Amino acid sequence: MRQQAYLKAMGIDIWFRREVLTEDTGISPVQDGISLPEIDVLPSQGSDDLSGLDWQALQIRVSTCTLCELHQGRTQTVFGAGNQQADLLIIGEAPGFDEDRQGEAFVGPAGQLLNAMLKAIKLNRQDVYSTNVLKCLPVNQCESKSQEATLCSRYLKRQIELLQPRLILALGQLAAQNLLQSNNSLTELRGQLHQYAPTRTPMIISYHPADLLQTPANKGKAWQDLLFVQRTLGNPDKAD
Ligand code: URA
Repeated sequence: MRQQAYLKAMGIDIWFRREVLTEDTGISPVQDGISLPEIDVLPSQGSDDLSGLDWQALQIRVSTCTLCELHQGRTQTVFGAGNQQADLLIIGEAPGFDEDRQGEAFVGPAGQLLNAMLKAIKLNRQDVYSTNVLKCLPVNQCESKSQEATLCSRYLKRQIELLQPRLILALGQLAAQNLLQSNNSLTELRGQLHQYAPTRTPMIISYHPADLLQTPANKGKAWQDLLFVQRTLGNPDKAD
């Protein structure tokens, strides 16, 4: 029965074949020493109602996702990690090569810069929860990922419902546009307190650390965004 619970958590419907049902148990004795009934497995990944899933079930669902073609290029999914009681949820765009190999968000060069940015407001990665809009490595980094992001956003929505953060910090244009359902540019979206509509969670938009590595001139504006985060969380005394 443990396997059935597992399959249920993954959103896989189990159908018993009529001819193998027995009157007393409803389950036939099985051949080959396998202690499970015969099953037909129908994937039901199309459903975007994940409201019944807890953290563990959600992570299993993500790890088996084949909703878009990005699953073909991944080493593994990158679910997200950190403090499940965090006030601050940090959302990036997608795993890079390092994240795909290690199965963890923001562990590469962009992650190192993110750590330094958080330190500047006296936070560390264990204080926050970090994840991405996309849970799989986009093999072609240059192509638009908005369709994949739309499919994948059901997982992020459930993560936000479970986490109930006080504030979301969205990093980069893809994350900002996906979470706000907006076509506005990052420049237009920065500097205001937005709301992630499904859970009415306050949200601030800033530069992606990978973009800051390429364009360090924007680091001053990113610092302003971090101070905005700090003020919104109500910890101004924590600034250096
Ligand atoms: N860029 C992201 O958006 N997320 C990561 O996890 C790593 C790089």
